[in-house]
Amino acid sequence: MRFDILTLFPEFFSSPLNQSLLGKALAKGVLSVNTYNIRDFTTDRHRTTDDSPYGGGHGMVMKVEPVVRALEALRSDCAGARVILTTPQGVPLTQALAGELSREERLIIVCGRYEGVDERIRAFVDTEVSLGDFVLTGGEIAALALIDSVGRLVPDVLGEPGSAAHDSFSDGLLEYPQYTRPEDFRGQMVPPVLLSGNHAEIERWRRIESLKRTFKRRPDLIEKAVLTEAERRLLKETAG
Ligand code: ADE
Repeated sequence: MRFDILTLFPEFFSSPLNQSLLGKALAKGVLSVNTYNIRDFTTDRHRTTDDSPYGGGHGMVMKVEPVVRALEALRSDCAGARVILTTPQGVPLTQALAGELSREERLIIVCGRYEGVDERIRAFVDTEVSLGDFVLTGGEIAALALIDSVGRLVPDVLGEPGSAAHDSFSDGLLEYPQYTRPEDFRGQMVPPVLLSGNHAEIERWRRIESLKRTFKRRPDLIEKAVLTEAERRLLKETAG
């Protein structure tokens, strides 16, 4: 899968993308990421990428022409790429959206800037994505989060096939508690069921813990999750 990033700060991406599993996937060629400096698509002497807002007000607005010129240059060699704009006004980045985007062959990500982009850029964008209800100084961190969460769902990127299937959110719930050695850490013991070797019991325990944790921390997710009657009853008992 290929990611093209349009940004005012291409250097921002070099170190994070060379680490860990993502770095390995890039080295293997399963993923590729190219960065393009929006400033290189300006035509004026000062290489201007932003300007003051029409109508007045504080801050600067990202100009439409350099972004669209960059998009047109990139799209000329692949008409099918999906164009994403990172902005706090977009749809929230969820595991479901990451899954959907991981099935694309190519994503072009335009990193917006926090003070805003010229509204007319939106006509050239397929999907606007937000990292959450907070404001970053620019869309670069959001673009990285998107590449990481989408990239790890692309086949052959994760070390262990199928491990993404157990992630938090993959079934709409938070993940169950995990433990590794030692069995006793300063009096905090690993739950005995996990040492029992009884896989059916372990699965049951994990599902219940996952439900209880989600119910307590993210009741909004429970409303949308697909649960059995018995599971709903169990949660009612837990609540009572
Ligand atoms: N740019 C600034 N804030 C953002 C956010 N919350 N999500 C995506 N892009 C952003």
